Amino acid sequence: MTTLEVRDLVKDFSIRSGLRHSRFRAVDNVSFTLTPGRTVALVGESGSGKSTVARMIARLERPTAGRITATRSDGTRVADRDYRDHVQMVFQDPFASLNPFHTVEHHLARPLKLHGRAKTREETRRLAEELLERVNLTPAADIARRRPHELSGGQRQRVAIARALAPGARVVIADEPVSMLDVSIRLGVLNLLARLQREDDLAVLYITHDLATARHFSDDILVMYRGRVVERGPADEVILNPRHPYTKILAAAAPNPDARDRDRLREALGLEPAGNSTLPGDDPGCTFRDRCPSATDVCARMPEDFEVGYDHYAKCWLRPGEGRDALPAADGTAAGRPA
Ligand SMILES: Nc1ncnc2c1ncn2[C@@H]1O[C@H](COP(=O)(O)OP(=O)(O)O)[C@@H](O)[C@H]1O
Ligand SMILES: [Mg+2]
Repeated sequence: MTTLEVRDLVKDFSIRSGLRHSRFRAVDNVSFTLTPGRTVALVGESGSGKSTVARMIARLERPTAGRITATRSDGTRVADRDYRDHVQMVFQDPFASLNPFHTVEHHLARPLKLHGRAKTREETRRLAEELLERVNLTPAADIARRRPHELSGGQRQRVAIARALAPGARVVIADEPVSMLDVSIRLGVLNLLARLQREDDLAVLYITHDLATARHFSDDILVMYRGRVVERGPADEVILNPRHPYTKILAAAAPNPDARDRDRLREALGLEPAGNSTLPGDDPGCTFRDRCPSATDVCARMPEDFEVGYDHYAKCWLRPGEGRDALPAADGTAAGRPA
């Protein structure tokens, strides 16, 4: 069992526009812990920095600052040479993450052999087929011989999941694992991830912009906005009782049959996908204030993480019982908003 700790993670990208060089802070002081058997969902609109966090955890990108540590249950730190086996990614596009020239078996055999889990050819084949059965790809012997283009999108993603398990993954980072799949098969793949997590006691980071599945499949939710985690807490709490104005808008805009007015609300609040126009790292205040329906002068200062419930935090000056806690509710009503 492995716990993954992310502390004060920062990522700056340098961007060039004409002759000018500037820095853009894509991830700004993000901290969280992934523990065995639990799923943390990282939600937020496109461009909020979710994949950059994932790529730093997967060591595909070097952090500008901060720490990422994997620790075994006996308290020892996972050594660098074992880190990549322990921490596995499942990407959004299974087609791009599989090699078109290689069979399914080849994809699984490599990590099995590299990590010393299989010595002989027979053993490798047996373990590969076992993995395919675990991800419900049967008959395994038949699937093992196919190449990626001979599989459906859902089957390809199941192969990608099996490959993540092959080196003995303890931590799985799933970056929008079903957003490119047909709507009708998404739930099957998410249920598979949930079952594997229970069986193997995996620590999972589930990245999505879909609040409904975030709530259903995770224990805790982190809401990211322009590089910062603006709200965090138990999944039900964050979705049913959102406290940050941004989360309220996200929850109100989520597909929900009760939220009849959500589109109008979205429009009224001017909620458009965030661009790269601001540099959050250079902004001393709340990054949401230019879009926030409740912003006041105090928002020019950076809010801290206020505790708004049990294990529930929001990076917002608005607090319960202070009279201005009157933003549109999750169901899209604007009840209680000051005139
Ligand atoms: N290599 C890069 N160079 C410059 N900017 C980048 C790079 N990778 C990502 N970004 C920028 O960082 C921000 C966060 O991107 P990303 O982490 O992919 O967001 P998300 O996954 O939430 O959609 C975006 O504005 C994106 O354009
Ligand atoms: Mg992304």
